[in-house]
Amino acid sequence: MGLLGSLSMLLPLLLWVLWMPAVRAQLPGDKERSARSLDALLQDYAFRAFPSVHPRTGTLYAGEPPSNLTGIKISAMRLRSGSLRTRGVKSYWEFEMPKGVVVQPYVERLVLVYQNLGKWSFFYYPIPGYTYLTPIVGLLAYDAFNLSSTNLPELDITAPINPISIKFSGVQSAPSGLSAKCIWFDLEGVMKFSNITSDNICSATKQGHFSIVAEYTAAPSPSPVSPQINGGPNEGPSLGGGESKVWKIVGSVLGGFVLLVLLSLLVLWVQRYKHQKKMQQMEKASEVGEALHIASIGNTRAPMALGTRTQPVLENEYVP
Ligand SMILES: *[C@@H]1O[C@H](CO)[C@@H](O)[C@H](O)[C@H]1NC(C)=O
Ligand SMILES: *[C@@H]1O[C@H](CO)[C@@H](O)[C@H](O)[C@H]1NC(C)=O
Ligand SMILES: *[C@@H]1O[C@H](CO)[C@@H](O)[C@H](O)[C@H]1NC(C)=O
Repeated sequence: MGLLGSLSMLLPLLLWVLWMPAVRAQLPGDKERSARSLDALLQDYAFRAFPSVHPRTGTLYAGEPPSNLTGIKISAMRLRSGSLRTRGVKSYWEFEMPKGVVVQPYVERLVLVYQNLGKWSFFYYPIPGYTYLTPIVGLLAYDAFNLSSTNLPELDITAPINPISIKFSGVQSAPSGLSAKCIWFDLEGVMKFSNITSDNICSATKQGHFSIVAEYTAAPSPSPVSPQINGGPNEGPSLGGGESKVWKIVGSVLGGFVLLVLLSLLVLWVQRYKHQKKMQQMEKASEVGEALHIASIGNTRAPMALGTRTQPVLENEYVP
């Protein structure tokens, strides 16, 4: 095989390698569906629920999510952090905050943003092997200093004495044999499990996202995992470009197969090349060996040269 031929064989491989990062960036789990960018978006939309003049303290304002995220519920409530600490919040959807809750860093007023992800729960918080028995609800705190702000950092809420409780209603019953557990995602996306205390109540010591899940052991059918849970509207889960994602996955699997074929061709070619190189070297070596032998023996050269002729046995194995 000529140099040109081998180069033309490497070209598709090179193109593939260059193209691959672009494919990977489009696979699910990336920016567009990241839970943190959803938090930022929902902070913006929840803050828009406040009236532009004199928003009241301690009042729940229901917000409107962007139209591409119907099924998500958001609310905002503005509080003095002093009142949160001394009185708590009796009822904010599923959440009840006891006395003693501390906000860090200190702000005079804060906004508690509530999220109910409805049918989007599994989309933004996919946990293979588990099924959500209730939509994910989130509780996040922001500085209330400027209600037009976007991309605000979350404040840290801590309940050091009594935990915050989350009372879920309309929880699906766990498939038989499986027990339900509370799940908590902190803001880094780390998930932690805990026991349901009673009456579908989970407890928390910090802000984050919460739900009740059941673990699948045998996974009889994948349908219960789809986010068809109460809270969302009736239209089917429109998981934002799900089909094109499937095609991207199919495409990258096919691409991977092509890559595999190309790689094996490359390996074959390298082996053949090495083989040829070796053959040439052995031929050379046998010639040199011949010469050396002849030289060292001196006068009786003819018989020794005959003996070395048997060395390049490999030649017979080589099948082009
Ligand atoms: C929904 O729309 C907002 C802007 O209105 C955009 O920032 C966001 O990325 C969109 N989300 C999805 C999942 O399409
Ligand atoms: C509040 O934030 C908005 C957007 O960032 C900004 O335009 C406005 O000037 C801010 N207002 C105050 C009082 O800081
Ligand atoms: C949850 O409950 C089980 C028994 O019901 C117990 O063995 C386990 O330690 C509990 N886990 C936690 C984190 O409390």
